[in-house]
Amino acid sequence: MGISSNNLTFHKSTVNKQNRNELNQHKSCVLWFTGLSGSGKSTLANEVEKQLFSRGIRTYILDGDNIRFGLNKNLGFSAEDRKENIRRIGEVSKLFVDAGVLVMTAFISPYQADREIVRNMFLAEEFIEVYVNCSLDICEQRDPKGLYKMARKGEIKEFTGVSAPYEVPISPELNIETGTLPLAESARLIIERLIKKQII
Ligand code: ADX
Repeated sequence: MGISSNNLTFHKSTVNKQNRNELNQHKSCVLWFTGLSGSGKSTLANEVEKQLFSRGIRTYILDGDNIRFGLNKNLGFSAEDRKENIRRIGEVSKLFVDAGVLVMTAFISPYQADREIVRNMFLAEEFIEVYVNCSLDICEQRDPKGLYKMARKGEIKEFTGVSAPYEVPISPELNIETGTLPLAESARLIIERLIKKQII
């Protein structure tokens, strides 16, 4: 990345995040879902979004599989590319939070250090790390996209949980055991947290 941000001026807008939050009558934050492929990140984010939407909350989901078709289509799955993937998502999420939206991100985000970098982009109360905790065995049994099978055969390289690491979150705000909890219950725990923290 040879481009520097020298000679640029950051413009502050007249209407700010606080104004937008007041207009919306809720705060904005990021729910950062992390977990293995097949752990249920997108499913859970979608269920939470449905419930928040019906409460009149402005939401948006950034999803690994979708973002990799567009914004991040030049990135693969090396540690370096995953780091850049997560960095960009962190920056995009920050824009959403500034725009007053409750944004949910569903990326494996396997490295503790990369998640930590993103966490540090936000105010403490704006970043909620949700560990979508489902054992590799269950994810592999589910194998919704048939990718674990291919990874075991060596047809996909550097596959998380098989031939690439997943670093379990050290102190996530929420630890949701999606291997055993029903979807509705998992979503309820997240909504409850948002209410308790007076975000919604
Ligand atoms: S991350 O590690 O950089 O956070 P991300 O969430 O964007 O990953 O993308 C993961 C999705 O890409 C998986 O759900 C799966 O569908 C697909 N995928 C393709 N190749 C791999 C791989 N080598 N490791 C993990 N996921 C992969």
